[in-house]
Amino acid sequence: MKNKILLTIFLFFFFNGIVWSQLLLRISHVVKNNSPKGRAVVYFKKIVEKESKGAIKIEIYPEGILFDDREALVALKKGLIQFAVPSFSKFADIVPEFQIYDIPYLFKNIQHVHRSYFGKIGSLLRNKSYEKGYVLLAMWDNGFKVFTNNKKRIKYPQDLKGLKIRTQGSKVINKSLEIVDAVPVTKPFRIVVDLLKAGLIDGQQNTYNNIYTQQFFRYQKYLTITNNGFLGYAFISSVRFWKELNLKTKKIILDALEKATIYEYKLAEKINFDDYYRIILHSNIQIIPLTDKEKKVWENFYYKHYNVFYEFVDKKIVDEVFRLE
Ligand code: SIN
Repeated sequence: MKNKILLTIFLFFFFNGIVWSQLLLRISHVVKNNSPKGRAVVYFKKIVEKESKGAIKIEIYPEGILFDDREALVALKKGLIQFAVPSFSKFADIVPEFQIYDIPYLFKNIQHVHRSYFGKIGSLLRNKSYEKGYVLLAMWDNGFKVFTNNKKRIKYPQDLKGLKIRTQGSKVINKSLEIVDAVPVTKPFRIVVDLLKAGLIDGQQNTYNNIYTQQFFRYQKYLTITNNGFLGYAFISSVRFWKELNLKTKKIILDALEKATIYEYKLAEKINFDDYYRIILHSNIQIIPLTDKEKKVWENFYYKHYNVFYEFVDKKIVDEVFRLE
């Protein structure tokens, strides 16, 4: 009788797909849940949990509540988290080639950026990441960055002179400011709003979405539409963790990531467009657009200085990006 009951219980759980052991995976990132990256991560979680019928559970740690991006890179290696989605500029501490996205005016538009993800450049970045112990599972968008500041109207690169600008800290970004005698101040994302509020820095460069969701615009007087570098994300795991997964689990994760990636690209474009108007609606920030002629001045200024960036990124890779245009 007892055996019969046990057998019935076993069959009930077996056929109803109740899982006995659950794989818990943690993802860390630094933006809000309503940003393109934040929303795509939530979407990824939903698909993975649904497709694995609950066998995989994903916990999301947004807004740097667990780790900032640089800490997350160490936490991945230590197995404290299983995924992170740092910006290319921060992951460039590990794989310097990611700094191509920071070189001012190298990428002309989002199609150009996408051609890099899915061609030779993408493969190179995947291989370099793997050599350093990270699996580059996807490359996500945010968008092109613009400058905001509290001191003066920026029209030309030289106008940045003397301004203290918060940066994400890649060598290329910092150099691109030093060239114009601006002062790069590298600080974690989550404290930027406080630094702006306290007037400890004069400005920063970011996408409309980050400027809006982090409330940077509330403490800035000027926004110049420079589109001078691209903010994208490396969705990464550690090689050690990835190797431990069975094929079925990998497939669930990769399929979910493919869907989340398509969703993320659409979101990034739409949310940045919307947030540009939200910034204007909710503040008196002065928007400074650049005419085609002014934009050419920025481009030509930086093209003339490209050789300083070759110290950080191999010229051959930069030339390859030019070929993709
Ligand atoms: C992010 O978008 O993940 C953060 C970018 C930054 O640190 O400026």
